[in-house]
Amino acid sequence: MSTVLSAVAWPYANGPRHIGHVAGFGVPSDVFSRYMRMAGHDVLMVSGSDEHGTPILIAADEAGVTPQQLADQNHRIIAEDLASLGLTYDLYTRTTTRNHHAVVQELFLGVYENGYFVEQTTYGAISPSTGRTLPDRYIEGTCPICGAGGARGDQCDTCGNQLDPHDLIDPRSKINGETPEFIETQHFFLDLPALAEALGQWLDEREATGLWRPNVIRFSQNILKEIRPRAMTRDIDWGIAVPLDGWRDNPTKKLYVWFDAVVGYLSASIEWARRTGDPDAWRRWWNDPESLAYYFMGKDNITFHSQIWPAELLAYAGKGDKGGTAREYGELHLPTEVVSSEFLTMEGRKFSSSKKVVIYVRDLLSRYQPDAFRYFVASAGPEAQDSDFTWSEFVRRTNDELVAGWGNLVNRTATLVAKNFGEIPAAGAFTAEDEALLAHVEEAFGVVGDLIARHRQKQAIGEAMRVVAEVNKYVSDTEPWKLAKPEVGDPERLATVLHVMTQCVLDLNLLLAPFLPFSANEVDRTFGGTGEIAPMPRLEEVEDLDGGASYPILTGDYAGAPAWQRHPVVVGTPVAKPTPIFTKLDVSVIDEELARLA
Ligand code: MF3
Ligand code: ZN
Repeated sequence: MSTVLSAVAWPYANGPRHIGHVAGFGVPSDVFSRYMRMAGHDVLMVSGSDEHGTPILIAADEAGVTPQQLADQNHRIIAEDLASLGLTYDLYTRTTTRNHHAVVQELFLGVYENGYFVEQTTYGAISPSTGRTLPDRYIEGTCPICGAGGARGDQCDTCGNQLDPHDLIDPRSKINGETPEFIETQHFFLDLPALAEALGQWLDEREATGLWRPNVIRFSQNILKEIRPRAMTRDIDWGIAVPLDGWRDNPTKKLYVWFDAVVGYLSASIEWARRTGDPDAWRRWWNDPESLAYYFMGKDNITFHSQIWPAELLAYAGKGDKGGTAREYGELHLPTEVVSSEFLTMEGRKFSSSKKVVIYVRDLLSRYQPDAFRYFVASAGPEAQDSDFTWSEFVRRTNDELVAGWGNLVNRTATLVAKNFGEIPAAGAFTAEDEALLAHVEEAFGVVGDLIARHRQKQAIGEAMRVVAEVNKYVSDTEPWKLAKPEVGDPERLATVLHVMTQCVLDLNLLLAPFLPFSANEVDRTFGGTGEIAPMPRLEEVEDLDGGASYPILTGDYAGAPAWQRHPVVVGTPVAKPTPIFTKLDVSVIDEELARLA
């Protein structure tokens, strides 16, 4: 048993999230965390809303509200959506808490005292027509590294490198097309070259485990070659203050949103510990070298998790070329694995809220079951290569696989048991066929569990569904409805077959619970359980721990999930006639949904 940190990317609070976001990090991190808890590990799953930075400012301007008001609105919507998807965060918080600000400033000071920040004069972009600073990501031009067009001032999506807007070839404002003016400005740069060797060593060790997805490790090794100092402060009035004299009270200089957001994994762990009443409890996940830390995100986030965040951690600990020592947080754990997904598209196109190529989480869940979506993500999501969400494929997967495969097995098993015995029957002697099936199903715990632990969820759910098919085949072969016929039937054999079917269904229900938690509870209830085998998060309104405004969080008690193994059925447990667990979709929804797109 290990302590396991599930660190989930922090969604921007500049608007509600669409399914592309949650397919990349939300569902996979929850499947992993649910499984790891069932397998006996001590999991801490943390995340929150990413509320600083330019996107929030721009959205607030457009909406005519303050950035804080905009963040408040969206944080609530996002937290509700994540709860509706059943994502079991131990803490889902936000970056505008006082706790987060204090932890970020502590990290900054640790890095600063160890000498890994260098103050430099650089060029900041100004819009000549408005005189306002022009945020990096609103400048577009040609990438100075790979030569691709359409690179943004902060990052090139073609080669993935982080950029400085001043280095873009032929820069243009995305807001009004004008050429920005660059003026001198002072900033703190993280001395990444002084951390390059330590980063390289860490990446080499990670590569040697063979666990990282090839794309992710290759990309991370590659960007190390282009490593150079990066500005960690910005000319902006929304963000976390730089905790140094002369800077602290400057209203127009704040920490760079990415410097602050990645610290959220730590600050949320600390907030969680403080809320449990054991303020040092977070250290088990952060100071123990034996603990494991998995980071879930989409691929546009890799550079911040395999370079910036580890660099912050190494610099804080004094582990770069300049040496140094750690302050109060001590030596903090680097990522065990950066688990990055690829991109999801929608009907063959990039998601775009403005072009209405989008479906928001909330809208999807108002019309479809959360488990139908979770099933789609697990079986057809962008796990290790880009994938496409289409309504026809969503309907097909739901109807042909979820309803006709798993739903049908649950339904006919419960119906036959209810009708013939009203309770789980005792088995007579097992045939070789019964025994083989029971053995195969039990073996699946090992196979499916290992695959989830190694972030191969597509294969894992494929394996579980293959076993579903095997059990369905057993049902067709043994024809229990014939065994149930009066006179010509065989009640004793019927009892045995239904006993075997019930055991297999309940085993499969556990195997599928990380993927399909809502239906797992319904299946459990159908077979006489309490319907609480898959714990759910709760949305709670809490006070800020340090006197700020109150806010909603997600949290929960997840310790009660059953162990990842066969639990023998209890003969005599009452089983009533079931209601179908999954809703079959009419094909007309395909056209209805397509009509909603632009
Ligand atoms: N807000 C970022 C995005 O949506 C992700 C931030 S992850 C964090 O791309 F760790 F830095 F918070
Ligand atoms: Zn490029």
